Amino acid sequence: MRHFNKGPVTAFVLAAAALLTQAISAQAPAKTGARTITFARDVAPIVQRSCQNCHRPDSMAPMSFLTYEDVRPWARAIKQKVMAREMPPWYIDRTVGISKFKEDPSLSDQEIETIAAWADGGAVRGNPADMPPPRQFENTDIWHIGKPDLVIKSATHTVPATGSDWWGDYVVNTGLAEDRYLKAVETKPAPGAKKVVHHAVTFLLQDEGESDLIGRGPTQNPAGGDAGGFLNEYAVGKNGDIFPEGTGRLVKAGAKIRFNMHYHPVGEETADQTEVALVFYPKGYKPTYYIQASHTGDFDDLDLPPGVDNIRSDGYTRLARNARITSFQPHMHNRGKAQCMEAIYPDGKIEQLNCVNNYKFGWHIVYNYADDVQPLLPAGTMLHVISWHNNTASNRYNPDPRNWVGFGQRSIDDMSFAWVNYIWLTDEDFKAQVDARKGKDSRPTTQQQR
Ligand code: HEC
Repeated sequence: MRHFNKGPVTAFVLAAAALLTQAISAQAPAKTGARTITFARDVAPIVQRSCQNCHRPDSMAPMSFLTYEDVRPWARAIKQKVMAREMPPWYIDRTVGISKFKEDPSLSDQEIETIAAWADGGAVRGNPADMPPPRQFENTDIWHIGKPDLVIKSATHTVPATGSDWWGDYVVNTGLAEDRYLKAVETKPAPGAKKVVHHAVTFLLQDEGESDLIGRGPTQNPAGGDAGGFLNEYAVGKNGDIFPEGTGRLVKAGAKIRFNMHYHPVGEETADQTEVALVFYPKGYKPTYYIQASHTGDFDDLDLPPGVDNIRSDGYTRLARNARITSFQPHMHNRGKAQCMEAIYPDGKIEQLNCVNNYKFGWHIVYNYADDVQPLLPAGTMLHVISWHNNTASNRYNPDPRNWVGFGQRSIDDMSFAWVNYIWLTDEDFKAQVDARKGKDSRPTTQQQR
């Protein structure tokens, strides 16, 4: 428990939260059945916050949850999906490691109980006057990162009305004539095509001879020199990445963009042309820090025998420099089941960072750490990524549990690593940031209340 905030502040916040919870449940004895749980008062606020981003017209989910009439027929299915923690899609194990993320839509145990009690109690509407005002949504068809300097369009892809999902890549030239430093990036499907785009992940292809897996780990590339690799991901509700001031990526002249797409038919033929927008730093300005997602903890000797569950593999990446980690995104394929990442400090201490305990290949989710809990790891730290695969028929994404599976690029092959976003820090800056955290830790009462 060094280097990031899990100390007295957290304890203080937890204690405060516990008091608050008691106070709330004293006012509202939902669990005792003393009053009826209603949609208007109890459920609508949860659905607004955690579901409507996707469950509304022209977003990605097949059914809308804007009104009571929309939601009522789905009450049973909603109860089942939230209790299984399959919806909203967010698969972090809440019982270990870091618990503060940006844009976290996940439900508390209490919210899940509320929804279940509502469904079990007849899914009543309640008093319409209790309804919260409708949530206002940002226009998703605009760019959120400011005026782009360059917009690159993927190839047009027509998704048929029915059929199976499609995974594949399009590679497009940026046409960039000179090297530029990237300040912000955003990816979005064509207007009207959001329903069919399950995910869009973009990669920067530069440096001749690099394969499409060129996000070299920090060991190979300790200076953060930019060999390309993972660029950006589109997920519903994501507004794009604006890098912290002084932090950026190099986009080289002649770079290409690889669009990795997952399309999903929705009953009507739909054409998409996903776009990625880039905002550059002014010409001649060079940011101090690179920020780059790198492959972490790869293990390429995967051995997944047919019919076996809970197959564990371990991969390690040594940090050649001090690092600030801003995000964690497990990457496995159809047999992936769970993944944990821990930090082994140079002095041997081990700290669990996070686990995803319900991995789903269909959802590529970047778990972005809140600023004040982003792990600060000294040079020499070993990141240890532990992956589990399920190659049995009990895994409903398994295309064929009779097959042996190893490492490979195809969806039917498998992988085990994490995409991790790093900012490399000088010794001086690293120390300053660690000290700033400690300073905060020792003055819990001056913390902002949450
Ligand atoms: C990030 C987008 C997203 C969010 C947020 C989200 N959903 Fe979904 N949901 C989907 C998509 C897409 C589907 C269609 C099935 C699929 O592709 O997994 C779906 C399907 C469902 C289904 C239907 C399953 C079936 O039986 O067909 C239910 C029920 C559901 N969601 C409930 C919820 C609830 C309740 C919430 C909020 C607590 C929520 N979802 C939040 C995207 C989302």
